[in-house]
Amino acid sequence: MQIRKITPSDAAAFIEFFTLLLKQTDFLLPSAKEAAISVEKQTEIISALDDFKQIFIASDSVKNRIVGFVGVTRFNMEKNKHIANFAIGVLKDSQKHGLAEKLLAEAEKWLKAKNVRRLELTVIKENIPAIRFYEKHGFKNEGLRRQSIFMNGKFYDEFYMAKDLDC
Ligand SMILES: CC(C)(COP(=O)(O)OP(=O)(O)OC[C@H]1O[C@@H](n2cnc3c(N)ncnc32)[C@H](O)[C@@H]1OP(=O)(O)O)[C@@H](O)C(=O)NCCC(=O)NCCS
Repeated sequence: MQIRKITPSDAAAFIEFFTLLLKQTDFLLPSAKEAAISVEKQTEIISALDDFKQIFIASDSVKNRIVGFVGVTRFNMEKNKHIANFAIGVLKDSQKHGLAEKLLAEAEKWLKAKNVRRLELTVIKENIPAIRFYEKHGFKNEGLRRQSIFMNGKFYDEFYMAKDLDC
């Protein structure tokens, strides 16, 4: 298993991966409809990734498929450029093997090299596996965003979580 930056040639495999991931979980932000984009569009998105927005993937080169991702976004104003947030996901059959841990470590290494000091995220209150994962990796709950997600006809609360990156 390889943990690496995504490249434009991963576009088709990434769409396949992300479509399957969104079938397996409701806990990521895009809906299946919003994520349904062409290979050309996905190639364009990947080509535009830079020092402020990046995607790292867990790639199974034997089976030639992507099984996990972390998407990182840095803030870009003078006053908040020390902050970044991220989204992470691993396919069900590859979970609990330390892949999210490796993806997060790679993202943190990249962020620290850019002097990012604070890493933050929001997570739906019911997403216990993710909350446990974040707690295990030093994230602390900083508060509640009430009714911040609407899905399947219902409102859900999210926790704000964050950790300091020691640069
Ligand atoms: C959260 C997620 C990324 C973890 O990925 P993973 O590759 O299984 O995680 P790792 O193997 O690196 O880490 C395992 C740790 O995560 C937590 N964890 C993972 N699955 C868990 C579960 N079902 N129940 C409780 N804790 C769980 C635990 O802390 C576990 O450590 P432990 O084995 O010592 O208890 C994965 O469950 C996932 O992709 N979920 C769907 C998408 C999602 O919810 N993303 C986050 C949106 S905010």
